[in-house]
Amino acid sequence: MVETAAVGPDEEAVVRRLRTAGCVWAEDEARLLLEAAAGAELEALLARRVAGEPLEQVLGWAGFAGLRLAVEPGVFVPRRRTGLLLDLAEAALPAATATATADDVAVPAPVVVELCCGVAAVATALLHRSPGLDVVASDLDPAAVRCARRNLGPRALVVEGDLFGGLPARLRGRVDVLVANAPYVPTGAIATMPPEARLHESPLALDGGADGLDLHRRIAAEAAEWLSPTGTVLVETSVRQAPATAALFVAAGLDATVERDDELDATAVRATRSVG
Ligand SMILES: C[S@@+](CC[C@H](N)C(=O)[O-])C[C@H]1O[C@@H](n2cnc3c(N)ncnc32)[C@H](O)[C@@H]1O
Repeated sequence: MVETAAVGPDEEAVVRRLRTAGCVWAEDEARLLLEAAAGAELEALLARRVAGEPLEQVLGWAGFAGLRLAVEPGVFVPRRRTGLLLDLAEAALPAATATATADDVAVPAPVVVELCCGVAAVATALLHRSPGLDVVASDLDPAAVRCARRNLGPRALVVEGDLFGGLPARLRGRVDVLVANAPYVPTGAIATMPPEARLHESPLALDGGADGLDLHRRIAAEAAEWLSPTGTVLVETSVRQAPATAALFVAAGLDATVERDDELDATAVRATRSVG
């Protein structure tokens, strides 16, 4: 007799309810929900998911770069495509991440700032890969700030503020990597987004203004003040908006290139100080 993996009646029933509600990955979701809870607690989680709340907000965590990151209801769920920002940020770290020179003189840790950090997916994964960094993350939404503090723990500073507004003054002219997945959806396009985003993520996390570039405009205008002489700015954008995002950084006196990862379906602008 061939033995098959046992699927208990509970799991079958959960899969059925998820599938009826339109969840494409019903089997995977059922397994995660059953891992998370049982009985009345499971029923409560299932009811939220069936009503359309993103799975990550229901579970209280999202997977990103191999990590489980805390996500509260209403907070932006990190997307897989933001892995491009992470890879570009890692590549942009100053080569000398050693903590001492040959003369044993301490070298300051590279400074990384994540603006509009949400749950601080990029900063947390970067710190996981390079533990010696001086990391500061910032967001305007108190719920996002709470999640970022949980994810980064005591190894980083998380501040609540409007873009650069909450950053410590000591970072002016010292930021080696400034990374931001700021909102870039044009206001008029929000109505066309999937309900999971439109109804369950804060409008603050999505709305980039009339052309989607309001936040990019403000970041480009102020970035140079905060960058170290060899610092890099990395901003997620869309294929369609990328030329306009890059042009904002060029107008602010920086060199800018568009970076693309087809596998992640991700686009970003990388900006540095002009050479010469
Ligand atoms: C698209 S979400 C991205 C979150 C996170 N970077 C990620 O990729 O998971 C944008 C974030 O920007 C924050 N935000 C929007 N306007 C802001 C502002 N003026 N200053 C700081 N944060 C802002 C939102 O609260 C939200 O967390």
